[in-house]
Order: sequence, then structure tokens, then C-alpha cells
Amino acid sequence: MQEPFLFDQIRSRPTGPIDLPEPVRVLDLPTPALVLDRSLFSSNLAKMAAHVAAHGKGFRPHAKTHKCPEIAKAQVASGAVGVCVAKVSEAVAQTGAGVDNILITSPITTPGKVAILDRLASEGHQLMIVVDSLVGLNQLQSGIASENRLDILIDLDVNMGRTGVREDATVLELINKINDDERLGFRGFQFYAGHVMHIEGFADRREASLSLWSQVSERIENVRAEGINFDIVTGCGTGTFNIDIEVDSITDLQVGSFIFMDEEYRRIGGEHNDRFLDFDVSLTIATTTISQPMNGAMTVDAGFKSMASDTVPAAVDELANTKFRFAGDEHGVLLSKESMQSLKLGDVVELVTPHCDPTVNLHDFYWVKENDGLIHSCWPITGRGCTW
Ligand SMILES: Cc1ncc(COP(=O)(O)O)c(C=O)c1O
Repeated sequence: MQEPFLFDQIRSRPTGPIDLPEPVRVLDLPTPALVLDRSLFSSNLAKMAAHVAAHGKGFRPHAKTHKCPEIAKAQVASGAVGVCVAKVSEAVAQTGAGVDNILITSPITTPGKVAILDRLASEGHQLMIVVDSLVGLNQLQSGIASENRLDILIDLDVNMGRTGVREDATVLELINKINDDERLGFRGFQFYAGHVMHIEGFADRREASLSLWSQVSERIENVRAEGINFDIVTGCGTGTFNIDIEVDSITDLQVGSFIFMDEEYRRIGGEHNDRFLDFDVSLTIATTTISQPMNGAMTVDAGFKSMASDTVPAAVDELANTKFRFAGDEHGVLLSKESMQSLKLGDVVELVTPHCDPTVNLHDFYWVKENDGLIHSCWPITGRGCTW
């Protein structure tokens, strides 16, 4: 079992902000560098907190997006009911920095990961995890010590086909087993429709999401009708933050990307706009122009190793009519007839990330830009590489 070795490795990483000896400009950073605009990040967070409060709901932001304890703490301070992580290893990173009340949103099925959960429970952390199978639940039951406590949500699926229980008989069987075990507490349900988040066009996205939630809500109400008690129904993502808020059964939103935003999300369109602009882009990749292969093109020092390439290309908001094209592991090319005339070799250009979560996982730090436009500190991405 290698998990205990990895646990200690994660716990030895830095967790809190590191002050720079003196403030620096973005232009002075060694690029490619992940830059976080603190005031835009804070206003995105405040906006989500106000949105859920206005509708009498909570939010449980997904820390898989940022993997950073400093950001998780800011989310809890802004009123979040807790945070989510995708994997047990991310929980190790967050709890090591004092972040508590964590929901693990993926099921686990191996003894090594259950042993880590048990160790976190022994440390006194409040943890919840989803289950979606009897195999997974049995594994948890064989690895949690008699004196430890673990809360459980049942992950439901309708038609995404990733994780989640589809048969209602299995849901009841799981709940009965959980309720018969003193170490476990049945708290409710998770439903996440990842395949709906990026449907283009607000009306289509709304229809798809509410139709799935109506099926899920009916399943949940059938469980309540059996006299079974629970207090949490969590789900939703950034793409449906102002859609799923209408769903009566939901208690809290598991939104992740809204704190940073990315080009993939901006393209899906908002309620009143063909771009999704409800939240500002607070995260950028600072790159430097390093070569000019031809007229109208400039090569920058950021490619697949500094930005996720699973979806759309990065956006170049700073330069009019300029496009980014990936040009390999370490390189990208900016293409534009107009702006290339003003760009020189050695200039720094900030790009909007294509897809924020997997981009963050490629970096060690956020370089945090304050209101004076300078970087005063960097925040460690403690959960970088924590994918198990
Ligand atoms: C289970 C779960 N919940 C919530 C989220 C957050 O989604 P988003 O980043 O779109 O807000 C994700 C993202 O993939 C997820 O997998």
C-alpha cells in the first residue's frame, strides 16, 4: 500500500501564502506563470455567496478547481457550507492546512484509499464521501475503525453514465446498510450533470438541466416518503448556477469554475448574452513572446505543459483580433495581422485559460496580483498532482 507514503509527501508541501521579498510586476515573472487577480477572484466569490443566499440555498464550492487551501479558506470565510474535493488525496492536502468539512465527490473502491479516509477521520476531520455501489460501501465498512465517523451521500445518475446509482432498489439497499452502521451517517444525495454544464445557449441548457433535476427530485422524494431522513441534496456546476437554483430539492451548489472562469465557459452563453459573463476572468497565464516565425505571428512560451488543451484554445483578450494556437508542449503562436505590429519580442501577454481546472494542475503557485497591479505573494497549489 503506497498511500501512506504519498500522504506524508503531500503533508510536507507548503500550504499558506508566501510573501515575495518585494512586490513585482506581471512583466517580471518567469513565464509561463499562472496569475490570479485577487480582487476579481474575491468579487466572483462574493457574487456566488450573495446569489445562493438570496435563494435560501448554500454553496459547497469544488476545490478540485483550485487545489489551494488558501482559496478554500476564503470560500469558507465567504459563507460556504464546506468544500468539495474530487479525490481522497485532495482531502489530504486541504485538511493538512486546516480546511475541514470536506465532501469527496467521487466514489472509492480500494482499501488503500479507505485507509487514508480512516486516517483523516482519526485526525478529527469532518468528512463526507459519496457511494454508488455495494462494493464501494462494503469496502468503506471494512476499513473504518469502530471509533471513527464518516458521513455518506448517495451519488445518483440519470443519464450521464459516469458515476451514480441508477436503480432505486440499490439506493434503498445502500441507505439501509448505512443506517445500520454506527460509524456511518446517511446525510443525503449528490447529483452532478457534467454533460449539461457546457451546453451552448441558456435556454437549451436550462431545459436539459431542469428536466434531469425533476427526475432526480422525484427519486429523492420517493426515498423521503419511506420515512428516511436526510438533510443534504448537493449538485450543480458553474454552467447551471442560475438554473439549478430554482430546484426546490437542492440544498447547496457544488460550483467550481466560477471563481476563475475560462474560455470554455465563456463560450456557452449566458442568460442575456451570447457569452457567459456572469463572472469575471480572474485567472490568466502570463506568457512571453520569444520568436517571430513570420509576419502576423508571434511565438509565446506557453503550450500544452502550461495550459490544458482538452477543449478550446486560450483567448487573447488583451490584443484585438488575435487568436492563440497551440504549437507544442512548450509553445503557442499568437496570430493577428493588426496587433503583431505593436508586439515586440520579449513582451508579456496574459492569456485566458482554455479550461481552468486542468490548467491549475500544471502549476505550483498562483502569483497573486493585488489592487496596485503588483504581485505581493504566491499561493501554493498544494493539491497539484493529487489525482488519486
Ligand atoms: C462532481 C462535480 N461537482 C461539481 C463540479 C464543478 O463544476 P464547475 O467547475 O463546472 O463549476 C465538478 C466539475 O467537474 C464535478 O465533477
